[in-house]
Amino acid sequence: MFEVLDDIRREIEAAEVTSKEAAEAFRVRFLGRKSGRITELFKQMKSVSPEERPRYGQEVNALKELAEQRLREFEERAEQSVNGAARQIDLTLPGRRPVPRGSIHPITQTLEDIKSIFERFGFWVAEGPEIETDWYNFTALNFPPDHPARDMQDTFFVEVDRVVLRTHTSPVQIRVMEELGANVRVIVPGRVYRNEAISYKSFCLFHQVEGLYVDEGVTFADLKHVLHLFAQAVFGDDVRMRFRPSFFPFTEPSAEVDIWWADDSHPDGGRWLEILGCGMVDPNVFEAVGIDSERYTGYAFGMGVERIAMLRYGIDDIRLFYENDIRFLNQF
Ligand code: DAH
Repeated sequence: MFEVLDDIRREIEAAEVTSKEAAEAFRVRFLGRKSGRITELFKQMKSVSPEERPRYGQEVNALKELAEQRLREFEERAEQSVNGAARQIDLTLPGRRPVPRGSIHPITQTLEDIKSIFERFGFWVAEGPEIETDWYNFTALNFPPDHPARDMQDTFFVEVDRVVLRTHTSPVQIRVMEELGANVRVIVPGRVYRNEAISYKSFCLFHQVEGLYVDEGVTFADLKHVLHLFAQAVFGDDVRMRFRPSFFPFTEPSAEVDIWWADDSHPDGGRWLEILGCGMVDPNVFEAVGIDSERYTGYAFGMGVERIAMLRYGIDDIRLFYENDIRFLNQF
């Protein structure tokens, strides 16, 4: 009889329980009302001889206390391991991923940076339509009627007569001067379209930022100054840049600006890359919008945003910007 008690005691002492469920199973096994092992011992009290009964009673009571004490321990431990999730973690489960977050497209980032640089210089931001008339896109900008830029190679014509997808942001120069007259200092970010063979360096649509400053006494020196400050802000204080004489129908004189791109794999240690066209607003353009070209002068520039983004991030194929490949976009 007393051996059974010893067995049960050993079993209670040896029990190792860490979960709530196992603690409950322990309780049922030893203390359950119906057929718990200790409950059973109490029931058997009747059949114990009167001489042995007091000792039996004492021992069973002690067992009960032991079981209750262990049960409290187990419950506490189970509680802690749930809280700390200590033993609940299954290291073999696949991890939970955070909700994937998008990133800002490198062209948008570059556009935003260009805008904020020019805003610091006191420029306002203007916008214009992507579908333009021949007048704004070409004629008012002093393109002669037979200028090659108008031909089918470069321009997407809309089926309506004399309507095009703008080939540059320069038509917004005209719109802004029509509205504000001769007191403007604006930049114009936007999309432009060209009917060109698609390759690593040209795509059928891209972005430009136009700049226009008109007032009395504006000079080419002002233009050089502002573009130098701009290049320093984008590419760093030690940027190397050069102004190269060029031609545009709507500026006189005209120039293109190149940035030196250091590249050790190149025989010359790098190369010049063009980022924008610029110049002094041609008097014919002022005439088209009714501004007195004897009194006012102005400078204008137009830069390729993809070009600048490519330089900045070391991207060598313009098409990457338009493929929406997550593996590419994730890097920004
Ligand atoms: N519109 C020209 C182009 O798309 C770029 C340009 C050149 C804009 C000179 C200007 C400028 O405002 O003055 O190629």
